[in-house]
Amino acid sequence: MANVYVIIPAAGAGNRMKAKTKKQYLKLCGSYVICHTLSVFLENDLIGNIALVVPEEDIDICRQVLEDMDCSNVLFVSGGVTRQESVYKGLVALESLADEEDIVVVHDGARPLLTQEVLIKTIDAAKAYGSAICAVKVKDTVKLIDERNIVAKTLPRDKLVAVQTPQAFKYGILKRAYKHAMRVGFLGTDDASLVENIGYDVHVVEGDYENIKLTTPEDMILAEEILKRREKIKACKALSEDREINLQSEKNCNFRIGIGYDVHRLVENSLLILGGVEIPHRLGLEGHSDADVLVHAVMDALLGAAGLGDIGMHFPDTDDKYKGAYSIDLLKKVGEIVFDSGYSVINIDAVIIAQKPRIAPYIPQMRSNISRALKISENVVNIKATTTEKLGFVGREEGIAAKSAAMLMKGRNKLDS
Ligand code: CTP
Ligand code: MG
Repeated sequence: MANVYVIIPAAGAGNRMKAKTKKQYLKLCGSYVICHTLSVFLENDLIGNIALVVPEEDIDICRQVLEDMDCSNVLFVSGGVTRQESVYKGLVALESLADEEDIVVVHDGARPLLTQEVLIKTIDAAKAYGSAICAVKVKDTVKLIDERNIVAKTLPRDKLVAVQTPQAFKYGILKRAYKHAMRVGFLGTDDASLVENIGYDVHVVEGDYENIKLTTPEDMILAEEILKRREKIKACKALSEDREINLQSEKNCNFRIGIGYDVHRLVENSLLILGGVEIPHRLGLEGHSDADVLVHAVMDALLGAAGLGDIGMHFPDTDDKYKGAYSIDLLKKVGEIVFDSGYSVINIDAVIIAQKPRIAPYIPQMRSNISRALKISENVVNIKATTTEKLGFVGREEGIAAKSAAMLMKGRNKLDS
């Protein structure tokens, strides 16, 4: 079976990025661009050795930048003046390892958003056809212009693709193509053009519009947004897996239920806020936020039903941001998180467990606060109150507790505004 090797040209100066640091060492979501790129290959079991081509003077910096990653299969290679020269140096570095029939994948160090899906597709096509590149359909109309800036020809858009990396080839083919290009002095803008020149067919697989090359400053903004979105999806998926949610049954089930429970201590000199309503009382609830037990129980019920953890995860009490927070504002955020994960609220039920004061007069305002925060109808928010007949900590007026249940459905129900 053919081995798979990788060349990552990362020896450019990044002039168009106009940053003080070379673009491969800029950070995206807290991690260096080159780490993002390299990790795609390190996470793939198909990959053998990786030739990471960096400027000669950067080899030590690069080792430092990558110190947290297992780079035992990475060869650090010093780059050339052009990308083509850098890739060639990578090919030479792999010479003693790779056979003619092995696959070599070339991928720009400046494309950190490559997915496993596109990588695997490209490798598979190279195994089958000898040469493969990934590309996306062109969205804009492309015209040829002459030196006077006059349109010479409008090209047929449906036959045009914009080519990305990875580009993968049998090692023997790519080496011959590079040797030939050097002999005739051909400088191509990608690896495939060198292979085309020696008469091989290059197979095209579908790339990914998100697999952008970081070239100019605005590419960094876009890449950061794409990464953030991917990380969010990954975190939610990991959470679901952790909780051993059976994905199959989740798929078939449109309804989900969750429960929430909270207790706070009653103290002097503190406000009593329940369901966002300030209730006059000689004692109030103590807590990091406004200690609104009712809203906390409702939030946990909603997050629980959506399989998204609990309020401690989303609003940690170690974070000063939430000190004194008005819990109804946090509920609004929970509503958005639940909505964004594709659920609508069917109904919420809750009970406040308090010996004193009398809660009933404030319930209508609590229902209104909660339903407005969640942008749902008041009719689906039910709140009750009970005492414990003077039993336990509630009976002794040491604290107030609240319990809640929430039912969600997948999709948008017509109540959602
Ligand atoms: N590259 C390389 N050796 C070079 C030039 C480029 O390995 N002599 C690499 C870059 O590091 C990048 C990829 O080839 O990962 C694509 O090149 P490009 O986007 O043009 O990057 P730079 O050459 O660094 O940027 P610029 O052209 O703006 O200077
Ligand atoms: Mg360049």
